[in-house]
Amino acid sequence: MPHQNSPKLAFCCPTIDAQPWADAMAKALPEAQIQIWPDCTEQADYAITWAPTQAFFDAQPQLKAVFALGAGVDGLLKLRLPESLAVVRIEDGGMAAQMQDYVTHALLRHVRRFDQYAQDIRAGKWIQYPAQDHASFPVGILGLGELGSKIAERVRDIGFPVVGWSKSPKTMEGIRCFSGEELYKFLSMSRVLVCALPLTPHTQDILNEQHLSLLKPGAYLINIARGAHLVEEDLLKLLASGHMAGACLDVMRTEPAPANHPFRSHPQITLTPHISAMTLLAPSIAQISQKIMSLRNGQAITGVIQRGRGY
Ligand code: GLV
Repeated sequence: MPHQNSPKLAFCCPTIDAQPWADAMAKALPEAQIQIWPDCTEQADYAITWAPTQAFFDAQPQLKAVFALGAGVDGLLKLRLPESLAVVRIEDGGMAAQMQDYVTHALLRHVRRFDQYAQDIRAGKWIQYPAQDHASFPVGILGLGELGSKIAERVRDIGFPVVGWSKSPKTMEGIRCFSGEELYKFLSMSRVLVCALPLTPHTQDILNEQHLSLLKPGAYLINIARGAHLVEEDLLKLLASGHMAGACLDVMRTEPAPANHPFRSHPQITLTPHISAMTLLAPSIAQISQKIMSLRNGQAITGVIQRGRGY
């Protein structure tokens, strides 16, 4: 039963139905008072958000922490937020497993030429192409954070050579890790490039002609991060020149992709509508409710964004 001292929570998720999330939170934290924006009559201590609006934060100046119902917080950090407000992301929450599946599927589909065979069969052909071995497709994972490192492990475990790049140095078993200034070296060793970076001013447009040209010939791009990492015209140019063999993109600069966007009908591009990892209700609510309890007990929590670096 909520009482005077119970935590006050507000959900601000204007593009989805927040009710099931609020119901799950009410079960996880029975003592909490829960409101859903815009029907908030009280000042909340904690916010749980998905694509929140500036109006919400302007109306809720007493928030102590905001929990994003996602891994990427670039959209949230574009808003004007009080300096002292802790911004917390979902840490894995079932997303890594989905991304591992997405990337391995895209990778194997490309290596086993499933798109080519599908096109051939539809065109009335019956051609067997030579087998391609995993060793010929070294995979570079750009970003070795919470999600990127799990993807790197899965790709390594199914037998591909894997290299990784992160801003600061990392070590991972069986994976050659590069960092910082070694980006060029990393790119030149990769034939398949998987982008799992956070979107920050430093990483925006990182998938550009200069960088993609450094990949091994016949390169393939898998972008599961943000559309703004990719300079779209540069990809089209490199596909036309034959340097790149294709791309599988889960994210676009504009979502939904405009009806006449050239990526939609490009035979070498596979598009999916930002589904590589959906936030799962149960593990996410369990994680957030646990963190709210820790904060109320004065304990430190993980997953807090360093606002200055943007992730
Ligand atoms: C989805 O894109 C997320 O950031 O979780």
